[in-house]
Amino acid sequence: MTTLGVIGLGRIGAFHTETLSGIDGLDGLIITDERTDVAAAVAAKHGAKAVDSVAELLASGVDGVVVSAATPAHAELTLAAVERGIPTFCEKPIASTAAESARVAAAIAKSGVPVQVGYQRRFDAAFAAAKRVVDAGELGLLHTIRSTTMDPAPPPMDYIKGSGGIFRDCAVHDFDIVRWVVGREAVEVYATGTVQGDPLFTEYGDVDTAAVVVTFDGGALGVISNARYNARGYDCRLEIHGFDDSVVAGWDQGAPVRNTDPRNDFPAGPAHHFFMDRFTEAFRTELAAFVEVTKGGPIQGATVEDAVEVAWLAEAATESLRRGAPVRIEEVRNA
Ligand SMILES: NC(=O)c1ccc[n+]([C@@H]2O[C@H](COP(=O)([O-])OP(=O)(O)OC[C@H]3O[C@@H](n4cnc5c(N)ncnc54)[C@H](O)[C@@H]3O)[C@@H](O)[C@H]2O)c1
Repeated sequence: MTTLGVIGLGRIGAFHTETLSGIDGLDGLIITDERTDVAAAVAAKHGAKAVDSVAELLASGVDGVVVSAATPAHAELTLAAVERGIPTFCEKPIASTAAESARVAAAIAKSGVPVQVGYQRRFDAAFAAAKRVVDAGELGLLHTIRSTTMDPAPPPMDYIKGSGGIFRDCAVHDFDIVRWVVGREAVEVYATGTVQGDPLFTEYGDVDTAAVVVTFDGGALGVISNARYNARGYDCRLEIHGFDDSVVAGWDQGAPVRNTDPRNDFPAGPAHHFFMDRFTEAFRTELAAFVEVTKGGPIQGATVEDAVEVAWLAEAATESLRRGAPVRIEEVRNA
């Protein structure tokens, strides 16, 4: 009998609860949210049991915990689960800042409790295949890897306020996938960004459109593009170029762009609407892999150590945007 807990039942927590309710080998779900009305509604919809507090959930004997609460709560909730020896899946990012992520990672490493981090792109069929092709050496020496993430519309501005900014909240997915595929550490980032949408982005010290150039050890360049207003749909692509060959992942019929070439009707659509429909299968595979972790299996996705490296990239990008100049990873790591 395997029972999982889910803490935090907003957009992604409710979706994870739905996904988990369809995963084989899972016998029960115990869920909670600061908002008990939300927990009761999600429980009723997906056949889970709602409890009124995190303490009650952690004391209930669950075999694993999914932390999908708002970002500022990740560190405390993950450590609370780990202190009880409960294998944990934490949504990205593992903490609000890189320094805090490093502290959380040190405590987790000391505990020996397995923690998987929610970078689901690693479980997407196309992205995973791209990684295998690179690892097999089929592209030769990599020179450029482009990663795009554009949301159809911004999340609620209350979410933006606590998100840590576009690099810690959104670009982290690009940083993780690019770093994972390249297989090298980043040495420097150069970030820029603008606000053309809701002025609250400026008030919260954030941007709605961003670009980052990441220089990797060895010389490969990562080119990352993010936007919060992309009405045609959820655009998530990876383009990898090597001296010998090139591949793309995410260029499917649902790629949310109109092709102006009259002789070519690709992509035919319908466009991906949002991360939930684009990554439904990846989320399922990712959470099924976590269920195996609760049974003693290895972590197949991003580890806490990966998440810390990604957090330093986000930190350096945030600082680079502030300064208007390139920032070396070593500099923020040693600050
Ligand atoms: N992997 C992905 O693609 C992906 C996508 C979306 C969100 N996320 C991550 O998931 C997290 C949640 O995002 P969201 O869009 O669902 O946010 P959301 O604002 O919709 O939901 C957050 C929920 O957490 C609850 N909550 C906050 N603090 C809590 C606490 N201490 N205990 C219990 N419940 C608490 C809130 O009441 C709310 O219901 C964020 O950290 C975000 O970065 C990841």
